Amino acid sequence: MKLDVFFSAAGLAPQEVAGRPVFVVDVLRATTVICAALYHGARGIVPVGSIDEASRMAQTLGPEDVILMGERNSQPIEGFPLGNSPLEMTEAVVRGKTLVMSTTNGTRALLAAQGASEVYVAAAANLSVAGARARELLQSRKDLVIVCAGREAQFALDDAYTAGRLALEAIEGRRRRKGMNDAALVAVDLARRFGKEWARPLGISASGRQLTKLGMAADVAEAAREDAYPVLPIFHDRRITTAAAA
Ligand code: MLT
Repeated sequence: MKLDVFFSAAGLAPQEVAGRPVFVVDVLRATTVICAALYHGARGIVPVGSIDEASRMAQTLGPEDVILMGERNSQPIEGFPLGNSPLEMTEAVVRGKTLVMSTTNGTRALLAAQGASEVYVAAAANLSVAGARARELLQSRKDLVIVCAGREAQFALDDAYTAGRLALEAIEGRRRRKGMNDAALVAVDLARRFGKEWARPLGISASGRQLTKLGMAADVAEAAREDAYPVLPIFHDRRITTAAAA
């Protein structure tokens, strides 16, 4: 068995994910937002690196009903109708729409994972469904990678805790070390130490504190709702859609 966690997508070498099943985690807030949007009926989400690219992509997708969304420094991007809040992804707003998404760390992590055999999206919001697929993959393929988006190319507590919770689901809570890289060992230890309540690790993380300071504490609370949006997003052929649960 091989279970690797990477605490940041920055510096992730293509060979570290090539041909392997990958889960991407950016619990505050990109991967929570993706779960919320798909749960509420979005047709798909297209992650892109830059603001210019988002506008170009919206033109390319022309005939589809497209909405630009994302953030920079946690704030909505000027001229984009939607920011990066899970609370914005209501059915009335997103049903049937294609969202072109550009966020600081989350989209970068998704794009960095593209050479994987399959790329799934995980958050607290879909822990049980993501965990079930992770467990199934670890059993059948004996291989699993969890890539945290991180923050400013560094370790982020919120993502590391989420990676630990997902890894624990994958290994069914067993005490196993063989095959896990050091980051996976630390993530699992962190998840065990904080226990099952998301509010604390998310709330005291730098991202959680920044969002709270900017008046977005409700987003942190929403991201802490386990299984709030039980979908399994899969990133394939440049687009994130809902995968059938295992
Ligand atoms: C990111 O991609 O860095 C996050 O989604 C940031 C945020 O939600 O503010």
